[in-house]
Amino acid sequence: MDTLITKRLSKNFGGIKAVDEVSITVKKKTITALIGPNGSGKTTLFNLISGFYEPDNGKVLFLNKDITNLNSHQIANQGLVRTFQIVKIFRNLSVLENMLVAPKRDYGDSFIKTITNFKKSIKEEKEAYDYTNDLLNLLELSHLKDEYAGNLSGGQLKLLSLGLALMRDPEILLLDEPVAGVNPTLANKIFDILINCRDNFNKTFFIIEHNMDVVLDFSDLIYVMNRGKIIAEGPPKEIFSNRGVIDAYLGVD
Ligand SMILES: Nc1ncnc2c1ncn2[C@@H]1O[C@H](COP(=O)(O)OP(=O)(O)OP(=O)(O)O)[C@@H](O)[C@H]1O
Ligand SMILES: [Mg+2]
Repeated sequence: MDTLITKRLSKNFGGIKAVDEVSITVKKKTITALIGPNGSGKTTLFNLISGFYEPDNGKVLFLNKDITNLNSHQIANQGLVRTFQIVKIFRNLSVLENMLVAPKRDYGDSFIKTITNFKKSIKEEKEAYDYTNDLLNLLELSHLKDEYAGNLSGGQLKLLSLGLALMRDPEILLLDEPVAGVNPTLANKIFDILINCRDNFNKTFFIIEHNMDVVLDFSDLIYVMNRGKIIAEGPPKEIFSNRGVIDAYLGVD
């Protein structure tokens, strides 16, 4: 099943074709990577998909629905969530409290509907609590759940911010350089967690990453972008033996 599809998606900034007729498919329960040199249009593509920029041309389909004209808030509520470098973590709340107050998906339930579904909502609350604890286990933060977030190490904060994004119960999570500036041990741990989420929570990930070690080891499929265009696509081994990809990274035409 295809979770996310773009069709000839394009965006110009002045004279620059930042994203130039990009057509990609992200399949359900995959870790799909997007790589390419600086300025090649990766973040702009994420901004177009997630509704932060309006495309000049092309379409975005999510779970077979056209979401091209929805705003970022509506798109996140449908289950397509993107993370930003800066995440709101409350230092004076515990790890568990941070998870519980993290933004949730608004499924559009009215107040009346909530009242009439009172029993159901208690059940849902219990499920949300169980999900929170399952996530904390997965993130290896359970032993710290009553600790103030302000006392966490940099690496633990990184894991918590991933947890906050997962609290939205996304169908697909778009991550922009999730292991930038992270040591190799933690980078591997973060990607192990993503694999675990893919396999045990049926999550799909679309990830921009410059760290080629984790991309090679952990991704199912790679798209390579250069100057706004997708220039290659395939499994890691194929991509890393592709001359065009190597040239793109060396800045050769
Ligand atoms: N809001 C904007 N206004 C004008 N130009 C922009 C804007 N956002 C991006 N660009 C330009 O679009 C091109 C693609 O930028 P983008 O940030 O998408 O690249 P990137 O692949 O994410 O790069 P990096 O790996 O350095 O993060 C660049 O030439 C950039 O200067
Ligand atoms: Mg970028």
